[in-house]
Amino acid sequence: MQLTWLGHSCVLLTGSKKVLIDPFIEGGSVQGTNPDIVAVTHGHADHMGETVALNRKTVAITEIARYLKAKGLTVESLNIGGTIIVDGVSFTMTAAVHSSAIEEAGPGFSAGAAAGFVIGMDGVKVYHAGDTALFSDMKLIGELYHPDIALLPIGGRFTMGIAEAMMAANFIGAKTVIPIHYNTWDRITADPQQFKRAIERTTDIKVQVLKPGESMQTGS
Ligand code: NI
Ligand code: MN
Repeated sequence: MQLTWLGHSCVLLTGSKKVLIDPFIEGGSVQGTNPDIVAVTHGHADHMGETVALNRKTVAITEIARYLKAKGLTVESLNIGGTIIVDGVSFTMTAAVHSSAIEEAGPGFSAGAAAGFVIGMDGVKVYHAGDTALFSDMKLIGELYHPDIALLPIGGRFTMGIAEAMMAANFIGAKTVIPIHYNTWDRITADPQQFKRAIERTTDIKVQVLKPGESMQTGS
């Protein structure tokens, strides 16, 4: 499987299927990625992004799925703690400590809870934390699902910052951690190399710092 960080919280997994998570990039479009499946962690505009315009099979929490279905999309709904298999790809919805609203639908349009995903494809498991604070049940995500790779927000203000993401990485125990949700805007400035140095000095975890658009190979 190949993992591409397109920027912000947007990640493309390319294996037996193409799975696009949180299809938003600042000042650009992800239309060219041509995904089979889109997965949305929560309703905020910097995560929903181009979900409606992409019009692909979309995995989301019940409330967002209902909204997207009304827009004409094919949806697969689930809720926190549940797992579904979509075209051979497994999606487990995990908790996230964050708010959620479908911003494009107007102020206060409820989108249920914010979430994350553990996605399994071609024998590789990727945990995308979504937008979240640190929470100790990340240990359970590690113990239950054993993700190979963890995508963790480090930008602070709206999510974990570097100090919290370091503890999150230890809780989850994935061999590889990729920082996301930073430096998109001034208000979420963080130094990914500082994060990398701090983790790699104190643990066996490897931090892969990607540039927007850059890919890495995972598993076989
Ligand atoms: Ni958010
Ligand atoms: Mn966000």
